[in-house]
Amino acid sequence: MNDPVIHLEHVCKSYPSGRGRAHVLNDVELRVEIGEFVSVMGASGSGKTTLLNLIGGLLQVDSGLVRVAGKELTGLDDRSLTLFRRNDLGFVFQMFNLVPGLTVEENVMLPGLAAGGSFGDEERRACSRLLTRVGLEGKEKRRPRELSGGEQQRVAIARALLHRPHLVLADEPTGNLDSETTGAIGEIFRSLHDDTGITMMLVTHEPSVALWGERIIILKDGRIAADVGSGQFSSPVELSAFYQQVLQKDQI
Ligand SMILES: Nc1ncnc2c1ncn2[C@@H]1O[C@H](COP(=O)(O)OP(=O)(O)OP(=O)(O)O)[C@@H](O)[C@H]1O
Ligand SMILES: [Mg+2]
Repeated sequence: MNDPVIHLEHVCKSYPSGRGRAHVLNDVELRVEIGEFVSVMGASGSGKTTLLNLIGGLLQVDSGLVRVAGKELTGLDDRSLTLFRRNDLGFVFQMFNLVPGLTVEENVMLPGLAAGGSFGDEERRACSRLLTRVGLEGKEKRRPRELSGGEQQRVAIARALLHRPHLVLADEPTGNLDSETTGAIGEIFRSLHDDTGITMMLVTHEPSVALWGERIIILKDGRIAADVGSGQFSSPVELSAFYQQVLQKDQI
């Protein structure tokens, strides 16, 4: 059997809070296998972004083990972590995080250029194919301000995928988009996942977005309170009811 893409064992993470520490993740265990598409839900402050950032090597655990794409992150120095993020991961954020002064295609190719690579015809063709794929054909020379929010997120998705990462991490990628645009971005995520088989982990508050994944985990009180297949929900309303149930369980 292949090793999982993400393997967390006994992961604890806290932040300084007043005179003590706030424990955000408490003994979290998680395995995500190659090719899975996992959605992460949970109330605001439940630790979703913290979890994603630990997996993305942007934060260090207090204790426990984080292994991603075969690398044990706790043992890596800063330089190796930078290389890991650049080579093995693709990030998609709520705020798109594009460089305003660069064109669409420059934004997509930027991570490779920043890594000291130079782009030949093959990379340019790959970039052009990806931009067509996400529906941005003909807009390669525009700047981010000349694009809608949904189009900017398409650029960010292309940027995250150009170097064929092992894992794509997306933190509320539709948090700034209306519901119609959200649906279109969902189509892109799903079809790219179907075609490339890239492992994806996506954080969202929206049940309709969580259903893009095949597996849904719900964070609560520092732990994974539910870990279920999305196939059991026939609509966002059903998932929403389940989610509320999980959040209310054990509450007085
Ligand atoms: N750098 C930090 N320093 C101190 N506390 C932090 C820091 N980052 C996050 N926290 C706290 O940790 C908890 C979890 O934060 P996190 O951002 O992971 O939540 P989240 O589930 O992503 O929330 P949201 O849905 O609002 O994005 C929150 O209570 C937050 O205030
Ligand atoms: Mg968050």
